[in-house]
Amino acid sequence: MASTAIEKIVLASGNAGKIREIAEIFSGLNAEIVAQSKLGLESPEETGSTFVENALLKARHAAEHSGLPAMADDSGIAVDALNGRPGVRSARYAGENATDEENLDLLLEELKAVPDSERGGGFHCAAVLVFPGDTREPLIVEEVWRGTILRERRGRGGFGYDPVFLDADSQKTGAEMSREEKNAVSHRGRAFRMLCANLRDTNR
Ligand code: IMP
Repeated sequence: MASTAIEKIVLASGNAGKIREIAEIFSGLNAEIVAQSKLGLESPEETGSTFVENALLKARHAAEHSGLPAMADDSGIAVDALNGRPGVRSARYAGENATDEENLDLLLEELKAVPDSERGGGFHCAAVLVFPGDTREPLIVEEVWRGTILRERRGRGGFGYDPVFLDADSQKTGAEMSREEKNAVSHRGRAFRMLCANLRDTNR
């Protein structure tokens, strides 16, 4: 179906690192990426029960208030032995205002008795692009980065649960990888590259 090329996309995120990463991925697309903060917008409360629902909530809010196409992501870690927890609650696992360190300590405590062979888990990222007034179908992608949860922190880079998440191929934790290494394999890098490829197909 022929459609009008997109010239500007609002990114519904306040995280400077994420904005830089995503702008890089979308740099070949001829569409300007504008952070929602530049338009005076903030993210709504994340009340969804899935990553896709939360990403859609954030993107729809930005599209409605800006009148522009908007992108958002929602991510977290789902641990097999915890039936997928902390999942969408990853940022708030140890409490509403918990720090990364507190969340990580709680995860390690909960997994204390879990044997090495059962410590699998995955980082999930849902990345979506919606159009103002829902004039076109939203683009929705979800990617998972599988790995193992270690018993102790390793590495000084990254953020969140990176220090205890071991990538099977490289045998490095997310916190031991360079930004480029992590982007190449991570849930978020893969999800946004896929979203960009889907959009490129409709944005010629
Ligand atoms: P949000 O997508 O910004 O809501 O992030 C959710 C939470 O998931 C973060 O606060 C982290 O705790 C965790 N998380 C998401 N992606 C990563 C990652 O790449 N490394 C480590 N933790 C992550």
